[in-house]
Amino acid sequence: MYTQALDLSTSPDVSSLPLGALEQKFYATIENEGKIEPQDWMPEDYRKTLIRQISQHAHSEVVGMLPEGNWISRAPSLRRKVILLAKVQDEGGHGLYLYSACETLGVNRDKLIDDLLTGKAKYSSIFNYPTLTWADVGVIGWLVDGAAIMNQIPLCRCSYGPYARAMIRICKEESFHQRQGYELLMTMMQGTQEQQAMVQDAVNRWWWKCLAMFGPPDSASQHTEQSSRFGIKRISNDELRQQFIDATVPQADILGVSLPDPKLRWNPERAHYDFGAIDWEEFWNTVKGDGPCNQERLATRQQAWEEGKWFREAALAYSQKHAGHPTASL
Ligand code: 3HC
Repeated sequence: MYTQALDLSTSPDVSSLPLGALEQKFYATIENEGKIEPQDWMPEDYRKTLIRQISQHAHSEVVGMLPEGNWISRAPSLRRKVILLAKVQDEGGHGLYLYSACETLGVNRDKLIDDLLTGKAKYSSIFNYPTLTWADVGVIGWLVDGAAIMNQIPLCRCSYGPYARAMIRICKEESFHQRQGYELLMTMMQGTQEQQAMVQDAVNRWWWKCLAMFGPPDSASQHTEQSSRFGIKRISNDELRQQFIDATVPQADILGVSLPDPKLRWNPERAHYDFGAIDWEEFWNTVKGDGPCNQERLATRQQAWEEGKWFREAALAYSQKHAGHPTASL
């Protein structure tokens, strides 16, 4: 679908317009809630920002398969195993849509993957923490995917067409992921005392990491102003974090778990929950590569890349062999 977007010209030829007019047209499209498509003129900073964000997002999806993938062989029933397999496979698919969307900006996928494997590229901090028990699988669905959806729903309205369209499908699948996690935890909470304690322990370990997932406070977010002007970012890091907390506290009550924050309480004046301080030092250490599982995650991706070499070569040889075949373009 993305190659079609690259091939077809939907707008009249504007290449002869002066820079000012091109910029005016670009910002008018954003103001009118239109979409910028790959063949449209765009400022270089817009292109760079999108490549940065979409590639980080794609890497997060692919690395995000690892913490849960760890539990596929140990799922407690066939039903749970099938659900988890489908979910992890979805995340791989999300990575592929996003790498494709990124390629429409003229960047080579091999370069993006090389940046991930050499540790140059960022991916979400959250995937650098270990999954110690089966309850972690439920908590990742409920809280990690819940936070991801909160951040990603506004991206369905992002100004760049291929990214916005990819996000619509991704959000539908993420919503299933979130619900399966909550349902898994509900089941455990109706189980033995040990199972309930396992859920509480997992919530205690993941809560603060999920709040940090939304990114640094607005006051320290270097890209928010520009990304908002470009119609890429619709809601700021702090606003999304607050929306997530407000939506999650009642869900925790229904589940019967407590959230590990003594300062968490409803503030009627703000009509929001107040909450305690996030450990930003820990967040930045993890982002910079010093989280508990950074090295393990990268090593696993590097190994997968090496072990998949024969398959990439075979696929390439097959496509070259059939390039001139009459069915090749179907
Ligand atoms: N983990 C790692 N790095 C992070 C981060 C996080 N949780 N939050 C912010 N950062 C990085 C930014 O990438 C940026 O680094 P850079 O300058 O090297 O690119 C720096 O911290 C400053 O942050 P800003 O707030 O200025 O950056 P943005 O304006 O780009 O906002 C963002 C950060 C909210 C993550 C935004 O990029 C975004 O919405 N990205 C798309 C969504 C995404 O990537 N989500 C990741 C999770 S996907 C997922 O969870 C998979 C699902 O299956 C569960």
